[in-house]
Amino acid sequence: MNAIETKNLTKIYANNFKAVNSLNLEIPKGSIFGMLGPNGAGKTTTIKMLTCLIQPTSGTATVGGYDVSKNPDEVRNLLGMVPQQVSLYKDLTVMENSQLCADYYGVAPDERDSRIEDLMELVDIRYAKDKRVGQLSGGQKQKASLVASLVHRPDILFLDEPTIGLDPTTKRTLWDLIRELNDNGHTIILCSHDMHEVDMLCDYVGIINTGNLVAYDTPQGLKDSLLESNRQDITEALTHISDENEVSTSTKEDLENLSLKKMSVLLKNQNDDIVEAIRQSDDVKSIEIARNGRINLRVDSFDDMAVQNVLNDIISSGGIITSIYTEEPSLEDVFIKSTSEVSEDDRA
Ligand SMILES: Nc1ncnc2c1ncn2[C@@H]1O[C@H](COP(=O)(O)OP(=O)(O)OP(=O)(O)O)[C@@H](O)[C@H]1O
Ligand SMILES: [Mg+2]
Repeated sequence: MNAIETKNLTKIYANNFKAVNSLNLEIPKGSIFGMLGPNGAGKTTTIKMLTCLIQPTSGTATVGGYDVSKNPDEVRNLLGMVPQQVSLYKDLTVMENSQLCADYYGVAPDERDSRIEDLMELVDIRYAKDKRVGQLSGGQKQKASLVASLVHRPDILFLDEPTIGLDPTTKRTLWDLIRELNDNGHTIILCSHDMHEVDMLCDYVGIINTGNLVAYDTPQGLKDSLLESNRQDITEALTHISDENEVSTSTKEDLENLSLKKMSVLLKNQNDDIVEAIRQSDDVKSIEIARNGRINLRVDSFDDMAVQNVLNDIISSGGIITSIYTEEPSLEDVFIKSTSEVSEDDRA
């Protein structure tokens, strides 16, 4: 079952700008869904329609089975929202803002304050509970906003760039909280520009560009399809090249980079002989010694044995490996590829 479904959802603002363009999106119940997209892609506009803050121009959207245009009250009762711009009352305290939210959603009076205090404790803002929101720092406001949005334990939680401005410790606390809420059955929609955050937390990722959904899959699925599309680009380019006599060195390098995986090794006993042996390894396509002593290599991404072979070559030349990592295509690579083909007209 889907927590959210949109059909041809479209938003044209009063100035005639089409911010969301016939969006079809399904978000399974109980999942963590990551919404990615460049600045101005239409993410916040989509979230505003799904949370009944603005009306769609055309198309439909259901949240928890309720239509956002026909049953906005039912939709509002199901959801919690941490907006991109904190929207609490500046002249009220953190506590008063949360109490207002709790009362709005009908949280039982005898539970209200203890729930709020527990949430404050969780995100570490209890020390500022009697401060006015207008006097808080950016990160403190973000935390206050979280408490207020979670107090009625919403089934579906929208988080629009919630970790921006949070210190690393608080960020991790919020990630843990997101996972915990999800384990308890809550559906989470997370807008973020932090690829690591999305990759780590989300079950599914949708990439939105100029109001359209341009990619939708699991994070791993998106990365795999990038590798596959690179493989196709290479095959296509090689066919093209074989038709031509002259091929520039830079074209060759670009092509090679598409198919190469980064590998980085640190040795306990690095010396010229070992480095030379690695350079001679059949599977090593390029080698570079970094200032921190790491040996950075490139090997063929499509050869399952390449990493194993290079390691064998290092070990048989006497190298003692203290650290190794390889770098597959990242969600950031997928993002850049999926959002790179946009004309200036579409963005204006
Ligand atoms: N009230 C408005 N009136 C007219 N145009 C608007 C309005 N709000 C947003 N837009 C335009 O709609 C487009 C999408 O904006 P939106 O805020 O949804 O982007 P976003 O994907 O959330 O971007 P960001 O990553 O920067 O938060 C932008 O081009 C923006 O200028
Ligand atoms: Mg936004």
